[in-house]
Amino acid sequence: MPTLLDVFATPRNAKSRTQKLRQAFLAGYRQAHPDFVHLPLDLGAEHATLPAFDEWDIEAKFQMAYGEGKLDEVAAARWDRLTQLTDQLHAADVLLITAPMWNLGVPWMLKRWIDCVVQGRLTFEFVNGQFNGLLKGKRAAILTTRDGAYGPGTPYAAMDFAVPYLRSVLGLVGYGPIDAVIAEPMVMGGAEVGAAALEKAILEAGGLGKSL
Ligand SMILES: Cc1cc2nc3c(=O)[nH]c(=O)nc-3n(C[C@H](O)[C@H](O)[C@H](O)COP(=O)(O)O)c2cc1C
Repeated sequence: MPTLLDVFATPRNAKSRTQKLRQAFLAGYRQAHPDFVHLPLDLGAEHATLPAFDEWDIEAKFQMAYGEGKLDEVAAARWDRLTQLTDQLHAADVLLITAPMWNLGVPWMLKRWIDCVVQGRLTFEFVNGQFNGLLKGKRAAILTTRDGAYGPGTPYAAMDFAVPYLRSVLGLVGYGPIDAVIAEPMVMGGAEVGAAALEKAILEAGGLGKSL
């Protein structure tokens, strides 16, 4: 019975377009794996429970990544909390990330979670000057919507710091293949174009869920 870690940063909740992709993905995944273990992480609601990456969190990170791994009491407690979050990644067979584009990148609460889970010794290590991801063999899926269009060959292609960033950072910790469903443009092509693009992406998200 597979485990799905379902991380979503969609504060508009029921009004969220990106949530519609997520619901379609989950329906497809449930069809393929009726007994799957679902680990939802609602970053819109739960972001304040994550480490803030202050001096002590960074001290623990650097000590474990570049030092000898000697932590004082405060840093050790911080490291434990980070480990709880990275344990979820190791426990899951598939990682689903659902988030709209915000100011050309990902919503800050998703970035906060990424800063917690991308950790030397826990999710990656350095081997001969290279990154070695520790989550190899696991699939990841990205679901997103945005008002503009940033596809290859379009004038704004170079401005997409959301999907290429997520692909890079998830690849760094070992995920692959990484699939993405992108609904665009939600607004900038007009209402009809937006509605058709969303409908198409909902179908794609459902198919992707079923296939993983
Ligand atoms: C804070 C904020 C920043 C945004 N920045 C962008 C942007 O840079 N580019 C873009 O195309 N859309 C941008 N949008 C629009 C959203 O990506 C778009 O409306 C998306 O479909 C919203 O997803 P949701 O319905 O799941 O909340 C932004 C929206 C918000 C709230």
